[in-house]
Amino acid sequence: MPCPPRSHELVFFVNGRKVIERNVDPEETLLAFLRKNLRLTGTKYACGRGGCGACTVMVSKNDPVSKKIRHFSVTACLVPICSLYGAAVTTVEGIGSIKTRLHPVQERIAKSHGTQCGFCTPGMVMSMYTLLRNHPQPSEEQLMEALGGNLCRCTGYRPILESGRTFCTESNGCQQKGTGKCCLDQGENASSSFGGKNDICTELFAKEEFQPLDPTQELIFPPELLRMAENPEERTLTFRGERVTWISPGTLKDLLELKVKHPEAPLILGNTSLGPAMKTRGQFHPILLSPARISELTMVTKTSEGLTIGAGCSLAQLKDILAETVSELPEEKTQTYRALLKHLKSLAGPQIRNMASLGGHIISRHSYSDLNPILAVGGATLNLISAEGTRQIPLDECFLAGLASADLKPEEILESVHIPPSRKWEFVSAFRQAQCQQNALPHVNAGMRVLFKEGTDSIADLSIAYGGVGAATVSAQKSCQQLLGRRWNELMLDEACRLLLDEVSLPGSAPGGQVEFRRTLVVSFLFKFYLEVLQELKKLVKLFSAPDSQRHPDISDRFLSALEDFPVTVPQGVQTYQSVDPHQPPRDPVGRPIMHLSGLKHATGEAIFCDDIPMVDKELFMVLVTSSRAHAKIMSIDFSEALELPGVVDVITAKDIPGTNGAEDDKLLAVDEVLCVGQIVCAVAAETDIQARRAVEKIKITYEDLEPVIFTIQDAIKHNSFLCPEKKLEQGNIKEAFEKVDQIVEGEVHVGGQEHFYMETQRVLVIPKTEDKELDVFVSTQDPAHVQKTVSSTLNIPINRITCHVKRVGGGFGGKVGRPAVFGAIAAVGAVKTGRPIRLVLDREDDMLITGGRHPLFGKYKVGFMDNGRIKALDIECYINGGCTLDDSELVTEFLILKLENAYKIRNLRLRGRACMTNLPSNTAFRGFGFPQGTLVTESCITAVAAKCGLPPEKIREKNMYKTVDKTIYKQAFNPEPLIRCWNECLDKSSFHSRRIQVEEFNKKNYWKKKGIAIIPMKFSVGFAATSYHQAAALVHIYTDGSVLVTHGGNELGQGIHTKMLQVASRELKIPMSYMHICETSTATVPNTIATAASVGADVNGRAVQNACQILLKRLEPIIKKNPEGTWEDWIEAAFEQRISLSATGYFRGYKAFMDWDKGEGDPFPYYVYGAACSEVEIDCLTGAHKKIRTDIVMDACCSLNPAIDIGQIEGSFIQGMGLYTTEELKYSPEGVLHSRSPDEYKIPTITDVPEEFNVSLLPSSQTPLTIYSSKGLGESGMFLGSSVFFAIADAVAAVRTERDLADNFTVHSPATPAWVRMACADRFTEMIPRDDPKTFKPWSIPIA
Ligand SMILES: Cc1cc2nc3c(=O)[nH]c(=O)nc-3n(C[C@H](O)[C@H](O)[C@H](O)COP(=O)(O)OP(=O)(O)OC[C@H]3O[C@@H](n4cnc5c(N)ncnc54)[C@H](O)[C@@H]3O)c2cc1C
Ligand code: FES
Ligand code: FES
Repeated sequence: MPCPPRSHELVFFVNGRKVIERNVDPEETLLAFLRKNLRLTGTKYACGRGGCGACTVMVSKNDPVSKKIRHFSVTACLVPICSLYGAAVTTVEGIGSIKTRLHPVQERIAKSHGTQCGFCTPGMVMSMYTLLRNHPQPSEEQLMEALGGNLCRCTGYRPILESGRTFCTESNGCQQKGTGKCCLDQGENASSSFGGKNDICTELFAKEEFQPLDPTQELIFPPELLRMAENPEERTLTFRGERVTWISPGTLKDLLELKVKHPEAPLILGNTSLGPAMKTRGQFHPILLSPARISELTMVTKTSEGLTIGAGCSLAQLKDILAETVSELPEEKTQTYRALLKHLKSLAGPQIRNMASLGGHIISRHSYSDLNPILAVGGATLNLISAEGTRQIPLDECFLAGLASADLKPEEILESVHIPPSRKWEFVSAFRQAQCQQNALPHVNAGMRVLFKEGTDSIADLSIAYGGVGAATVSAQKSCQQLLGRRWNELMLDEACRLLLDEVSLPGSAPGGQVEFRRTLVVSFLFKFYLEVLQELKKLVKLFSAPDSQRHPDISDRFLSALEDFPVTVPQGVQTYQSVDPHQPPRDPVGRPIMHLSGLKHATGEAIFCDDIPMVDKELFMVLVTSSRAHAKIMSIDFSEALELPGVVDVITAKDIPGTNGAEDDKLLAVDEVLCVGQIVCAVAAETDIQARRAVEKIKITYEDLEPVIFTIQDAIKHNSFLCPEKKLEQGNIKEAFEKVDQIVEGEVHVGGQEHFYMETQRVLVIPKTEDKELDVFVSTQDPAHVQKTVSSTLNIPINRITCHVKRVGGGFGGKVGRPAVFGAIAAVGAVKTGRPIRLVLDREDDMLITGGRHPLFGKYKVGFMDNGRIKALDIECYINGGCTLDDSELVTEFLILKLENAYKIRNLRLRGRACMTNLPSNTAFRGFGFPQGTLVTESCITAVAAKCGLPPEKIREKNMYKTVDKTIYKQAFNPEPLIRCWNECLDKSSFHSRRIQVEEFNKKNYWKKKGIAIIPMKFSVGFAATSYHQAAALVHIYTDGSVLVTHGGNELGQGIHTKMLQVASRELKIPMSYMHICETSTATVPNTIATAASVGADVNGRAVQNACQILLKRLEPIIKKNPEGTWEDWIEAAFEQRISLSATGYFRGYKAFMDWDKGEGDPFPYYVYGAACSEVEIDCLTGAHKKIRTDIVMDACCSLNPAIDIGQIEGSFIQGMGLYTTEELKYSPEGVLHSRSPDEYKIPTITDVPEEFNVSLLPSSQTPLTIYSSKGLGESGMFLGSSVFFAIADAVAAVRTERDLADNFTVHSPATPAWVRMACADRFTEMIPRDDPKTFKPWSIPIA
């Protein structure tokens, strides 16, 4: 057999250093190469699909056409390493380091408090850095655009934006630009100075400290690459891997010949379509042809006939070309170009637009393609080329439908795309609606074009194409044909809607679901187009002074609002907090906005997360095998084929567990039976992650389905399938009270679940030691002691042999309390069995599938009230979907019931809750622990009462709120004074009452857009309702040089606990924080810790640290007294000489919590956090989209330990809550398979979701005696305040329904997605869509709440 020719050398640069790879694997991505081969772990993996931006790096290339160097951001997880030939890559490590010099972007993001867990930070830094390389003084709009593809789950984006804004041209330091009011004029006490003299501060960082940006200091483009680009190689380069060969020809001729030789081989450009398909849809291509070096594919020609754009141009380049062309040509010629530009602004994030090519986009023919519908209606032509010659085909419905007769031949490629200009009397528009405004695949999109007979409104030509309503872009050809010759009027519109709904039919079972919504969009978009064109026609007709018969009736101003899309705006806002006492010594950091201890390391990529730990000797990689059935008996597991694959070392099953396999009803590894899709059955250990993943595909498990299979709460109720007994609290006499009220309302509320979507997926590294069965477990967890205990019982070895280490966690939000123990234990079994270290890193899909999240909830209420709005009786019954095992569901039910009353005193109150057992992955702890879901029922009930009384909801809230010292339903006494203060301040700061009037005015004037405003109070109980959880320990060592090592039982999840602990230690020991260090949380230094959760981490650990420091200081006191003028170092030296121990354990025996459920009484919580939030939104009744106009939050933090961190927690949790209530939607198939397993399908808020104005203030002069320095824990409470956006949307929807005389008691459904909003705003379009009998089809997804 002839030997295959050898691979060529791959040459590129990383951070200014030349990389020559002789044995490159074309299947390898840049991300894997950076992390594994170059050990540059600053670039993070979080989704692997281009959807989150955590892996952003900058690529620089010399553009062969313009001869300019192009710097652009990319997502390294989708960049094939072979595509980098001749390119320079810059990673976060390449721009600055804490060891040498920080880049201003790194410095500013850290010092502006733009990092919490820090996992997204390197990606954010690189997006901003790339922007600055291209625009050293960008505009704020450019900044927003640059960050549009980067997700952050912690910060709420505001501080990240703030840091970037310091580079912007127009940034003047005033954060309330555009409002006509400066933050410096905020009120009598306001002071803009950082730590200023007055009471109130509005700055969280000192801009003056920042080093200036000096563009001359940046890495230059490597001269060697410049030379290579100037003398391009013409030879074909071949990179041969184990399974795949990458061929990169240097000339078009060679490419075409290769295409003849390998007709099946795809052309690979951006890899944004091929990459995800190869990863998740099992596509495999042994040969990939890369046309990256073919300059013909990036040619652009502009003639009077239109634009011809090379198929190899990126979508970002396309955007620039179109923008330039639009600026050069008269408006009438640029209709199609403008429509394309509109969608190019919201299509994906900038990284994807930089990578994705026009050719790849067109040829992929995704049904959701944003550009193909416009290109199709705009009459675009595809210029094809092959070795045989060239030809043109239209980009029409036949091409889009993939008809062989209208498609490329296998040996052909797309060379360029011709887009003709529009003509006079021709109008082109584009429409799209997605789950959120930016960086989200569209539900439905459309391109529409109409040409009129000159000087008339008679349709000469019409084309309409839709995306998202079928397997490919759908062209409504027949309907358009039938409308030719019709006049542009209401009659035509009605007929067109009827025709379109007939032609563009979407079956009830269509993939993607939301069928009725998508049908409605088909006609809603048409209506928008109709109005748009009508407006334009009116202008033209006026211009041509057409006869009266051609004149159109004026569109009333009320209806014009249908025309405008919501623009992306740059958020503004003010953060207000109380400054420290002017007498506080400057070195005492408590109460000051100190930067996160790891902030700078986050920003440089030097902060080490679990998977950044270098590979250890003989390490294996583990991948989990999960059940594909919801409820079944395991008949057999055959892994013989998997074991034969290269690199596969072992398969771990339940039989390999030496100790306990989890709990009887919650096994670590399934035995005999599976209870949900996603349950872990076994695990493969192999030499590499790729080998382990390939082996997983070869494992054959056979099942026999079992009955019943339960997914929904309704089914669980029907089958009496519950995880634990009912929890109930009751006061007063419900029955009697209902008899005496003026009115009674009953209602239902459905609240969907939520995925934690921590940016760092679950990871663990287990290293078995050689002696005494010892194991080191490096794990990303909120509860290392639990991991330690579980590993111990699973392996049947004592706890003292296992040490768990947590350096930092890339976000937890409750999702890393219980689950990490499962992964730790399975990995430990593998490590012990193979005798080798095991690394387990869940990919995003598996993480979302396996780990469960927030419990979906179904609530029913019955409320009795007087006509004045006073609630006399309330009966709430809640069911949560717990999934297949107990996990935390009983506790969540208890918390839910304990917290349901929220801020209201209702004398006759009954609250009941049950956790349903279903065949879904077990749901678990999530920030707020039941409160955010449950309290939505209470607040919805208030809104329903308001509607019945004809009063605004805020009046009902005020009327029923706790006002004086009182007792909760479980008889715990509390003083609601701070609640009332928060409420009043929020009303005042948000100018609520005047804005309510403005909203009403707006709504009177606008039919298709409505505004809504809502203010929500909050009483949130902090802490665990169990005494054993209220304890903490710390260990503080002072070394002989005076440096101090602090360890405590809390874990750094991004919430800044380590920063706060050092602030405490610094105050107590009276030395600056610079003397101190925290190295990690370890079960070997502080044992038997409790989970870092329930908002009390800093409270309890702070007291333990305080205790340790006080012990140490007490010991030092005689020495200090003897030498009061001495330095800290002198005292420590003396203490050592005098044999005084310089190490102390601190302990805090905290709150004695108790709850007697039989009596319904207790003191379960140490204290409450109070707050209020007011939000205003505007909705588009035709699409269901909304924009967040403004949010004001007032929170009672008492004496904040660190206002920057606390405001960060409030903002971050608010935005996370907003996600829960507006965009985050889990989709399950009728077989219980989670569809939404990536950022493509599950939308957490992006930077463009932040309210346009976002103000947060901490309530001044508030005190609480129970906690460290009278501070309060704010980790979770802000989550619920996100519901103010939900209720503002509901308010707007209610305005629509009132105006249209629709019933006021519609079912409350969270999240308030565009689909829910659109369908709630019923109109003639929702009425005209066909509705299917649910019995006649199987839906794509089922509601589980
Ligand atoms: C995170 C993410 C978000 C996205 N969001 C959106 C969105 O909001 N809206 C939207 O419309 N799209 C979206 N997309 C899809 C994106 O637009 C397409 O994936 C992209 O345009 C494909 O281009 P590419 O260069 O990456 O193609 P590749 O993946 O490189 O190739 C795709 C296919 O095109 C073929 N091909 C490429 N060039 C040629 C040519 N010249 N001749 C013949 N065949 C060719 C290849 O053979 C291959 O089969 C998103 C993608 C990602 C990853
Ligand atoms: S990891 Fe690359 S975009 Fe998410
Ligand atoms: S700081 Fe952005 S994800 Fe944690």
